Amino acid sequence: MQARINVNVTKKQNIMHPFMYGQFIEFLGRCIDQGIYHPDSPLSDTNGFRQDVLEKAKGLQPPLLRFPGGTMVKLYHWMDGIGAKEERKRQSNRIWGGVIDHAFGTNEFIQYCREIGAEPFIIVNMTTGTAEEAANWVEYCNGTDDTYYANLRRSHGFEEPHNVKYWGLGNEEAAVPDIGFLHDPHEYIKASWEFAKLMKLADRSIKLVMVGEQPEWNQAILDELHPICDYLSLHYYARSENDDYANLFDHAVRMENMIVDTTTLLERYPAKVESFDRWYRFPPREREIQIALDEWGIWQHQSSDDYAADMEAIFNWREALLVASMLNVIQRQSKQVTMATFAQMVNILAPILTNENGSFCQTIYHPLELYREHCGNWRLSCEVESRMLVDSDGQETASACLDVSASYDDEKREVIIAVVNRHPEESVTAAVSFGGPDNLEIIEAIELNCPSWETVNGFAIEDQVARIEHTNARYDSEGRYVFPSHSVTLLKHRHSIDD
Ligand code: AHR
Repeated sequence: MQARINVNVTKKQNIMHPFMYGQFIEFLGRCIDQGIYHPDSPLSDTNGFRQDVLEKAKGLQPPLLRFPGGTMVKLYHWMDGIGAKEERKRQSNRIWGGVIDHAFGTNEFIQYCREIGAEPFIIVNMTTGTAEEAANWVEYCNGTDDTYYANLRRSHGFEEPHNVKYWGLGNEEAAVPDIGFLHDPHEYIKASWEFAKLMKLADRSIKLVMVGEQPEWNQAILDELHPICDYLSLHYYARSENDDYANLFDHAVRMENMIVDTTTLLERYPAKVESFDRWYRFPPREREIQIALDEWGIWQHQSSDDYAADMEAIFNWREALLVASMLNVIQRQSKQVTMATFAQMVNILAPILTNENGSFCQTIYHPLELYREHCGNWRLSCEVESRMLVDSDGQETASACLDVSASYDDEKREVIIAVVNRHPEESVTAAVSFGGPDNLEIIEAIELNCPSWETVNGFAIEDQVARIEHTNARYDSEGRYVFPSHSVTLLKHRHSIDD
C-alpha cells in the first residue's frame, strides 16, 4: 500500500507544552491504595510507595500528576488526609466501593510528585465541600505567612510551601448520574465564582481549570466565567460499540473533532481580559483559554457493577496503537491542548498493572513512554495521503491507515515524525517530503511493534513489545519508508529551523 507524508520543516507552528504527557491518579479501586501506595507490601519503601511502580512511573516521566479524582472528588475532604496517620478516618468509598484510609493524602501526593518529577494538579470538591474549604487547601499547600493552615503544613514537617499552581474546580459536574449537585450550568457558574474568588485570595498566582462538557454547557459557562478560566477541562474515553478492529480508531477522530470544535468556541473569547473589576483583588486570566484534556484513555468494557475490578483492563497492541494515535491528536492540537493527563496511571485503565508480587507494563505503556521521551517541543504541520481503514463489513471508516504528527526539538535540532500504521496486516510504503528541503538526514528510526495486534503483556510473560532502533533499514530502493503493519515509528531527522 502506498502513501504520502509531507512535513513542513520550514516553520515552527506552536510550542508543545510538556504538560500534554501528564498522568492521573484517583481513589478508585487499586490505583492509589495498593497501587502506588502500599505500606504493608515488602515491595514498598519507608514512605509506603511501591518501588516497582515508582520505577515504572518514572519511566513515563509525567510532568504533571492529577489527584485525587475523578468522580471521587465529590466526596473528598482534604483534611481527612493530613496529620498523624493513625488518626486519619477510614471511610467507605461511596462512589467506587471499597474503603479509603486516607493514609495517602496531600503531603504524600506532593512527595510522590517530587519523586517522579511531576507538577501537582489538584481537583477540589464542589459538591460536599465548600469554597472556604478549597481556599484553606490552597493556603495549606502554598501559604507562606504566619497563618493557621500554612502553620499546619509546617507542623506536619513541610516548612516550605508546596507551590501547587494548577487547581481544578470540580470534575465532570455536568454528569447527571454522578453525585454532583451542579448539573445546571448556572449553578456551576455561581459556585465557580465563589470558589475562584476565595481560592485566588489565598494565592493570586494559581491557575484554574474549569469543567467542560457538551458545546452548550461550554458556551454557557464560558460566557460568564471566561475572565477567570485559564483552562477548560475536556474528557475523552474511547469505548467501542462493537469489537470491530478498525472502528476503534475512529475514537481518535472523534476526540480530535471534540477538541477542534472546542477550539473554535474558545476563539470567541478575548485572548486577554481587558476590564476586570479591581475589587476582586486578584488578576484575571492572562492569556487565551487553554484546553486541559485532563482525562483521556480507553474504557472499553464495563460489564458489571464492580466498577473498580472491571477497570483493571488488559490492553492489547491494537489499543496501544490507539493510544499512539490519540497522542498524535494531542500533538496536532497542541496549540490549544496545553495540558493532558492520561486516565489513569496505575491499575485503573492503566499502563501499569500490579499484584501483590510485582507489576508489569501494559502494551499501552510503550507509546506513552516513547512519545514523552522523544517528541519535540514545537509542533510542525504535516499532511498525509493514505487509504482509509475498512471495517469487517467492507465499509470505509473515518480513520486512515497511517496517522501522523510531527514535531521539532530545538535543543537537539531534530525533526521527529510520529507515524502509526494501524493496518492489521499490510505494511504501508510512504514517500516522505519536507515542504522545502529535498531530503533530511535521518538520525534514527525507533519502532514499536508486537507479534500481532492481539498481543497482550502479563505478569508471567516477558514484555512482548519490541523496540527496534535503527537508521535506514526500512527505506526501499526509491527512498520511500516502509512502515510495517500495526507499528508505531518515530523518524528522527537532523535539521535546524530558525526562529
Ligand atoms: O477515570 C475514571 C472516571 O471516569 C473518573 O472518576 C471520572 O471523572 C470519569 O468519568
